[in-house]
Formats: sequence, C-alpha cells, structure tokens
Amino acid sequence: MSRGFTGEKSPDWPTGVYKVSFSSVNLDFKFRRLKILVSGGTGYIGSHTVVELQQKGHEVVIVDNLCNSSAGVIRQIGKITGTEPLLEVFDLTDRHRVEDFFGRHAGLDGVIHFAAFKAVGESVQKPLDYYRNNLVSLMNILEAMHQQRVLHLVFSSSCTVYGQPESLPVTEEAPLQKALSPYGNTKRISEEMIADYAPLSGIKAVLLRYFNPIGAHPSALIGELPLGEPNNLLPYITQTAIGKRAALSVFGADYNTPDGTAIRDYIHVCDLANAHVLAMERLSKLQQQQKPEVFNLGTGHGNSVLEVIQSFERVSGLKLNYRITDRRPGDIEQVWADVSLAESVLGWKAVSSLDEMTRSAWNWEKYLASQ
Ligand code: NAD
Ligand code: UFG
Repeated sequence: MSRGFTGEKSPDWPTGVYKVSFSSVNLDFKFRRLKILVSGGTGYIGSHTVVELQQKGHEVVIVDNLCNSSAGVIRQIGKITGTEPLLEVFDLTDRHRVEDFFGRHAGLDGVIHFAAFKAVGESVQKPLDYYRNNLVSLMNILEAMHQQRVLHLVFSSSCTVYGQPESLPVTEEAPLQKALSPYGNTKRISEEMIADYAPLSGIKAVLLRYFNPIGAHPSALIGELPLGEPNNLLPYITQTAIGKRAALSVFGADYNTPDGTAIRDYIHVCDLANAHVLAMERLSKLQQQQKPEVFNLGTGHGNSVLEVIQSFERVSGLKLNYRITDRRPGDIEQVWADVSLAESVLGWKAVSSLDEMTRSAWNWEKYLASQ
C-alpha cells in the first residue's frame, strides 16, 4: 500500500467508504521551502529553472562565472518573479572558492548543477578544457557537498550518452554508447563519478538526461543567448529569420526518416525546468536511495528538421530561407525518449507543443532585437 493512504474502515461511514488518514505523511502535504544552489543559474536552462524554483516558493543562490551568460539575467529573473536571486561570480573549478562558498551558506538543502561547457564541436578542438571545466567543477561540488552535509544533487546530463539507440523510443535502460565527442564523454564520466561517490558520501542524486531543449520563457525576458554562430537548430532558425544569418543549412535530407531529415525530441525549456524542481522536491523527501536515479526528459515523440521549420513558419508567418546541405559529421539519424519513468516517478510530463516552443523562441529573438 502506498504511503499516506491507510485505508482504515470507519464505523461511522457507510459500508464501502474508507476513511483516509494522512497522519503518516503530513510532511508530504506541508510545503517545505528549500534553499538551493543553482550552479550555472544565469545560463539558458539554469535561468528558467531559477524562475520555476522561485515561483514555487524556494530560495535560490546562483554560482556562475559568466563565461557563457551575463549578470543582467538576474534582473530579468527579478522582473518575472519579483525576486532577484543572489548571484556569486566565481569559477567552480576553484576548489578553495567552492569550499568557502559552502562554508558560508549554511542550510543549503541541495544543488542543481548546470555549470558546464556544452559546445560539441569546440570540445573536439579543446578536449582538455572540457574535461577540466566539466569534471573538476563536479568533483569540487561533490566534495564540498559531502563536507557540509548538503546531500541532494540534481545533475544535467544528456541523451547524447545513448548515441544512436538500437530501439526507439529510448528508455533509461538502453546501453550507453561510446561518446562521439569529449563533451559527450564528460557527461558519461560525470554520471559514473556521481554513481561511484553517492553511496560513499550519503549524497542522493537524480541524473536528468535532456533530449533537445528549445524555446524561451513565455515572458520573452529570458532565453538562449548563443555566443557567435549558433550550433543548434532553433537559434539558427530564429537568427536567420531576424536577418542575422543569411540562410539555414539543413544538414542532410537523405536519412532513413519519413521526410529524409534527422529527428529529435524537442522539449520546451520551461517543461524541462519544471522537472528539476520536481526532482529536487522528490530528493528532499526521499528516505533512502541505493543509487542515483536516472530520468529521460523529452516529450516522448520526435520531429524532423523540416517539421521544426514548418512549425516556425506557421507561428511567425514568415518564409524561412533554408537549403539542404550535406549531413553534419557526428549527427545521429533519429532519437526520441521514452518518458514513462519520469511520468510515473516524478509525476512530470512535458505539456508544451512544438508550436509553443518555436513561438516562444521567436518572441525571444524579437525581444533581443528590440534591445
Ligand atoms: P549555458 O552555457 O547556457 O549555461 C551554463 C552556465 O554555466 C553558463 O552560465 C556558464 O557561464 C556557467 N559555467 C560554465 N562553466 C562554469 C564554471 N567552471 N564555473 C561557474 N560557472 C560556469 O548552458 P545550458 O544550455 O543552460 O546547459 C546547462 C547544462 O545542461 C549543461 O551542463 C549542459 O551540458 C547540459 N545540457 C544542455 C543541453 C542543451 O541543449 N542546452 C542538452 C543536454 C544537456
Ligand atoms: N541542424 C541543422 N542545421 C543547423 C543546426 C542543426 O540541420 O544549423 C539539425 C541537426 O543536424 C540535427 C538537428 O538539427 O539533426 C538538431 O541539431 P542540434 O544541434 O540543435 O541538436 P543535437 O541533437 O545535434 O545536439 C543537442 C546538443 C547536444 C546534446 C544533444 C542532446 O547540442 O549538446 O542535443 O541533448 F547532447
């Protein structure tokens, strides 16, 4: 029987009606305000997660060295939620700074760790930068969490760990494949590092494997800020439409898919952010954990590159300038998630449609152009 429903039969009640006693789970129904360190919280997914955390009543402290974001995001978050979160600017690869931070912030309930380098192509050019930044940051955080008894961790992983899965939709049980880039390898190693350290240190962890996060907050006050030429599809589409880029290259139309273009599971960044809050709330209530829990975060269905372009054209009323080119080396053909585990355990489900995702990305691009 599940916790919380004792199913005790009451003599006062008509036959067949059961009195529900919530006495054993009072805590589940009382809101507990959590104090969370969000590393990388001025970045794309981090900033949306900070908004969700604050809107659910939690307290946030951000650490970010601003290597791929700006401090102005704090003001924007404040405009949305009414509260500007505290930001400390330093590099998480600096062990002493990390220890000092945890020493000064007593009463942290958990860490949501986003901070990392994430450009696949760049990681091939600068592998040691990626291993150092992504792995040393994580090691410093894990050690400091252990020392200060901050025992709840939500970690940003990626569906890149599956490579091209043998069967679709891909479940969390699918075998992990050799990483196609140093960036992908840092995610795989990070997952393993957490799995090795968590049982020794008492840390309870959730590893979230994102599929393809896109879109922006509906307020259009925060969104993705790619530096230089974007690698990812959606920013390339919106920058082409606004006139920053001449044309979008569609990388390959000869895949074994219905329209020949590659398929991904695109997920709205606000849906993704919401899953982090649920994961942290779950950890804060969990009595025991044998090993880190892993969840796929996607919508559960895939869209081709051409379908994303069509959606963008529909919501913007514009015709996008694009051309079909060769495949991009290292790209997989198709992947989408089995999300039933996140649904049943976290009680989470992505709710936004593809059109809502492309519309919010377009509104964000127009907001940027207006600044
Ligand atoms: P982002 O670059 O927008 O945000 C990362 C933030 O971390 C940035 O603000 C950056 O300044 C900060 N940062 C990086 N290294 C740091 C360090 N050493 N110390 C302090 N701050 C540091 O990236 P994002 O898209 O928000 O991604 C967040 C996380 O999600 C990353 O771990 C990324 O690998 C993972 N992820 C992203 C995607 C995606 O498509 N965006 C997909 C799968 C996984
Ligand atoms: N694409 C184009 N033209 C572009 C950019 C992308 O046709 O200019 C295509 C790609 O070939 C791919 C699809 O659009 O078929 C999506 O490409 P993205 O670069 O947006 O996303 P990826 O699936 O290649 O990779 C992203 C992140 C990775 C992460 C992975 C899974 O970049 O870091 O999602 O989360 F690991």
